[in-house]
Amino acid sequence: MAAFFSSLHRTIIAGIVLLIVIAIVVGVLSGQMIKPDHAWFAFFMRWLHVLSGVMWIGLLWYFNFVQTPSMPKIPDDQKPAVSKVIAPAALFWFRWGAAATVLTGLLLAWMNGYIVQALTFQKGAHVIGIGMWLALIMAFNVWFIIWPNQQKALGLVDVPADQKAPAARLAGMTSRINTMLSIPMLFCMVAQQNAGL
Ligand code: HEM
Repeated sequence: MAAFFSSLHRTIIAGIVLLIVIAIVVGVLSGQMIKPDHAWFAFFMRWLHVLSGVMWIGLLWYFNFVQTPSMPKIPDDQKPAVSKVIAPAALFWFRWGAAATVLTGLLLAWMNGYIVQALTFQKGAHVIGIGMWLALIMAFNVWFIIWPNQQKALGLVDVPADQKAPAARLAGMTSRINTMLSIPMLFCMVAQQNAGL
């Protein structure tokens, strides 16, 4: 058991197998097996979208709730463990999670038939339009402000020493802004279908 769960790959595959078993059991119990039509593929895209969104926003909140407040408490000689090992790995999943969320979100809006209406704030798609624009601004921040400045701050690209602190401050401030935006953004995501707005 311990050997099995020591592998992340095997753990992910086990999660997918468990999902397939649950889908079959639910299908048998309800008498309704999966019908691979447009509605089902839109639902599948919604699931991929939420998975990638959790990866992205989960890591955003990890940076803001855990890593950044803990850094001052870590002795200087141990800080490289975070800045050289943990943060670069977290930033990899963070920025690609953001890209996957944007892609699946835009595909979902297209499959739902309201991508243009949402992005231009037309009637019936106001709330998801606001959510999509908030998330697009956040994704822009990730790729064009946070990531380039984190690379400077963490020494992943060569810059003069005096540029590191301002880069870290800008990345940190933008990450805080994204944390603020994540609160109404998530409300808008779940409101479109469920809040009757
Ligand atoms: C640019 C990025 C994004 C776009 C274009 C986008 C687009 C969408 C669309 C079109 C929907 C379907 C709304 C509906 O008709 O019910 C949706 C739902 C949702 N999105 Fe996003 N989204 C983005 C970012 C995010 C992020 C960062 C998260 C974070 C977890 C997220 C989480 C959700 C959730 C939980 C739902 C609700 C699913 C449901 O109620 O069934 N989205 N999004």
